[in-house]
Amino acid sequence: MNVLLLGSGGREHALAWKIAASPLLTKLYASPGNPGIGRFAELVKLDIADHSTVAAFCKEKKIDLVVVGPEGPLVAGIADDLRAWGIRVFGPSKAAARLEGSKGFTKDLCAKFNIPTAAYGRFADLAAAKAYVEKMGAPIVIKADGLAAGKGVTIAMTLEEALAALEACFDGAFGSAGAEVVVEEYLTGEEASFFCLCDGATALPFGTAQDHKRVGDGDTGPNTGGMGAYSPAPVMTPEMTERTMREIIEPTMRGMANLGAPFAGILFAGLMITDQGPKLIEYNTRFGDPECQVLMMRLKDDLLVLLNAAVDGQLAHMSARWSDEAALTVVMAARGYPGTPEKGSVIRGLDEAASDGAEIFHAGTAINGGALVANGGRVLNVTATGTTVGEAQKKAYVAIDRIDWPQGFFRHDIGWRAVEREQTGK
Ligand code: AMP
Ligand code: GLY
Repeated sequence: MNVLLLGSGGREHALAWKIAASPLLTKLYASPGNPGIGRFAELVKLDIADHSTVAAFCKEKKIDLVVVGPEGPLVAGIADDLRAWGIRVFGPSKAAARLEGSKGFTKDLCAKFNIPTAAYGRFADLAAAKAYVEKMGAPIVIKADGLAAGKGVTIAMTLEEALAALEACFDGAFGSAGAEVVVEEYLTGEEASFFCLCDGATALPFGTAQDHKRVGDGDTGPNTGGMGAYSPAPVMTPEMTERTMREIIEPTMRGMANLGAPFAGILFAGLMITDQGPKLIEYNTRFGDPECQVLMMRLKDDLLVLLNAAVDGQLAHMSARWSDEAALTVVMAARGYPGTPEKGSVIRGLDEAASDGAEIFHAGTAINGGALVANGGRVLNVTATGTTVGEAQKKAYVAIDRIDWPQGFFRHDIGWRAVEREQTGK
């Protein structure tokens, strides 16, 4: 098969690494890709926002499958547009990607199909939103409805913060994504990421993970796209997984089909495990980044076979096997992230760092004058496996010690919650 992978982050590097291991693969192309992906794929410059250019490339290169990494092109309808040209695509339609593209859409779906989630209100004007916030009181959560690159959520611990967040949203802080706002009840519990591979009718559980969103050690500082992750998530016991499937995922699959927008692709449920059980925080309609990196380390089966089954509506006959080992990834970021990262600093030592079995996925790198340089906020994902999360964590940090990149930084405590559990046996 000839495959085109769209995207340029650590998620896509992990997908490329796994796709390249498939005996089904003839040739992998990636656009835009990155230097790590370039080891497995021919990198091509395509304007991904121009779907007909992508389609023409697919026709010319006889692409048998397009795998879409990030949410932006999915929400913009790339899967529909390529399919209209007869091209097979792994990723949801525009209508199904509303599960990520509109928080209000997902909340309404939950209400309609009785899916446990935080109580909420949807507002298109400031005065009504303010009145709701004042009625509900703090703590409370304010969310821009649309895609805001992970920045549109405010956890307001006081009424003042909540009102300020509403004003910022309606003032255009998130552009058109904030023209509508979801206000929700503040949930407490432990968070977990739950993935399903979906074909429109069947959802196949596809791994669990936990990530660390805050930039600093001890879960402090501003939110990021994720500073590290590990899999599996200990809180997702077989019982919790079964409840999540029955109470959240299956009603979502039925609901989407019922709305004429069956979901095919990766459904990524952000969950809060509360005293009452799992509640949906949000959906994403693609793999998590960096969660994908740890999932791919543990997946024993051929990813291309599974992606094909999802595209062809054949998942009812499939299973996915996972390594019993834990996997953990630590994000190395460029100074300045999650604000404006410094670009261009030289990174050395990756071969030495990978010499003990760690995988180093490139998330934001470039080649400049023959040297590998930082070219983004999140730059490298240093990933390892072990019989416990603790062992995977040790191996990842040993690998990091061998990387020569003084301008990079990372958290020192990725996996702390799971490691603490392993140590105390709780
Ligand atoms: P989201 O972009 O919706 O995933 O939100 C980002 C983060 O905000 C989540 O990972 C949670 O840590 C937190 N969050 C979102 N919604 C809630 C909620 N209703 N209650 C508590 N925390 C939340
Ligand atoms: N790491 C969170 C996400 O990919 O949305």
